[in-house]
Amino acid sequence: MNKVIGRVIISKDRPAKPSEFWFTIRNHCEEVEIGSYVVAEDDRHKIIGVVEDEDYFAMTESPSQYFTEEMATSMGSPPTSPTIIRIGKARVVAREPPLNIPPGDRWRVRFISSNDVQVLHKNIPENKRILAGFIRGGSWIPIYYHADFLLGPEAAHVNISGKTGLAVKTSYAVFLAYAVLSWAIKNKEPTAVVMFNVKRGDLMRLHKLPKDVDDAKAKIEQWAEKVGLSDKADIYKMLWNEAYNLGINPYNIRIKYFTYPTDPYQCLLEGADYQYYSYGLGDLTKEELIASLYRPEEEVPETQINLIYRYLSRAIDAARRNKITLTFDTMRSHMEQYAKFSAREVFEAYRTPQNQRSRRQQYIVNKFHAPQLDNWHERVAGAVFRRLDGFLSRAGHIVKRRSPSGNPIKFSAIEPYTIHVVQLYGLTDAEKRLVVNALLRELSDGLEEEATKENPRVKRILTLIDEMNLYAPRRASPIKEQIIDITARGRDLCHSLVGIQQFASQIDAQVYGNCSTKVVGNSDLVEVRSDIYRYLGKFRDLVPLLDKGMLITYHPTYTSPIPIIFPVPLYQVTL
Ligand SMILES: Nc1ncnc2c1ncn2[C@@H]1O[C@H](COP(=O)(O)OP(=O)(O)OP(=O)(O)O)[C@@H](O)[C@H]1O
Ligand SMILES: [Mg+2]
Repeated sequence: MNKVIGRVIISKDRPAKPSEFWFTIRNHCEEVEIGSYVVAEDDRHKIIGVVEDEDYFAMTESPSQYFTEEMATSMGSPPTSPTIIRIGKARVVAREPPLNIPPGDRWRVRFISSNDVQVLHKNIPENKRILAGFIRGGSWIPIYYHADFLLGPEAAHVNISGKTGLAVKTSYAVFLAYAVLSWAIKNKEPTAVVMFNVKRGDLMRLHKLPKDVDDAKAKIEQWAEKVGLSDKADIYKMLWNEAYNLGINPYNIRIKYFTYPTDPYQCLLEGADYQYYSYGLGDLTKEELIASLYRPEEEVPETQINLIYRYLSRAIDAARRNKITLTFDTMRSHMEQYAKFSAREVFEAYRTPQNQRSRRQQYIVNKFHAPQLDNWHERVAGAVFRRLDGFLSRAGHIVKRRSPSGNPIKFSAIEPYTIHVVQLYGLTDAEKRLVVNALLRELSDGLEEEATKENPRVKRILTLIDEMNLYAPRRASPIKEQIIDITARGRDLCHSLVGIQQFASQIDAQVYGNCSTKVVGNSDLVEVRSDIYRYLGKFRDLVPLLDKGMLITYHPTYTSPIPIIFPVPLYQVTL
């Protein structure tokens, strides 16, 4: 693989630039393909590039020459074939020395080899290297993310997009979780991973590992056969082994689950470390309650939001003074009362001395026990009541109606060097929004407080959110403000979110824009034509051709997007 492919071209129509260059591809170097890594060098310089385009052409002016040749061949003349010129275009990924100049004329171009790794990773110090995947260069060459750019504080947040089933999004997120925690263990950086499970029992099997490393390889082989990829079984085994040798060891990582009593996949957790979670009204902020009651893409009437805010301020105060017990059911009942009686009527009834009250006024005094607000509108209260009633009638899985608090997931339950899986499958969308928003806030607040301590128990958290479009869709809405706020603050707090969804084009622009690392798996051409994939350049054409396990990643420490391959995570092969 170290053989010379060709030479750098510097011509009028194809000039070399600091960021890209064209090169010739010799005959018999057909294995140069889009995504191949090449090195252009002379005795003092080395420039590593990734091939993003290829042109094959001949001097033939028109296709008619082909017909003439074919006719001549069929009439017995010896076959002729025109000279084919093959050229490729590489985007610069890394260089040594760090001079931003184009490669020189006719520099030799060859395939990358493991000797070039130091140049590739020179921007990432040894103790900051988190495995991102591999590229092929004779052997498998590891590609790393920079811990400070993946988890904060330099940059943070990852977005993974691609077609369902083909893009291997969740599998890559799991691989990333293992890579991050393996780095954390090696470097004694107390880091935790939190991930939400959205697909049946998908991530509820993380603790079910093969017996040992040999068994893992046997299971990978069986899996490859089962999914019709037996011709690639050796590659998957090799990739898994390479990752294992680089310290990605799932046997060192603890798994902890948070689920709920009616979870249909709870049976998978026998023998695992798990606990139940639930939320009462007192466990939520006003914003979290609103984000649960209304869908993010909804046009929410300002009047309803105002009523909820005003009510909760009063009700929380009343609960503090032990005047009421604030639960979901009490709030529901209070909204019903606001809907039934007008503020003026209630005010008059209470103001009238008992012996002078009309029967209606006495009735109101008997029935109305909600906190007194300055004013309210019955129709608005009726709308909030119906909303809350609808939410409560469906939200029986994790919502405590009658007690002020449940058993919410607390920062104190988050442990370093551990993957925490929160079961969301089976919940309504409103419940999912409740859990995700409440937990994100808890994690960010926890990290903020921890940062003030001399010896923080947990310093960084990577939180994986599958189906990100549910929480931060593109349409403007006040409901997604909390998630926008978390992404904006996350970098400083070292709370990094990994958002996963099929179409990045459907995600809120600010949330997406805050992601410093972007990962794309197989997607339709129509999707990658969207402007937000502009950073891919010519690699856009490669996206619909990506096989399972292949992704393109864009990370701030590299000057170009990078096609990578990663090993199938073990939870996929032990099904
Ligand atoms: N590294 C890999 N190499 C090859 N195949 C893989 C790899 N990782 C996962 N797969 C296969 O791809 C399938 C789909 O993976 P995964 O569930 O991660 O996709 P997804 O993009 O999350 O899909 P969805 O959008 O439906 O959630 C898995 O069932 C598994 O068989
Ligand atoms: Mg998935």
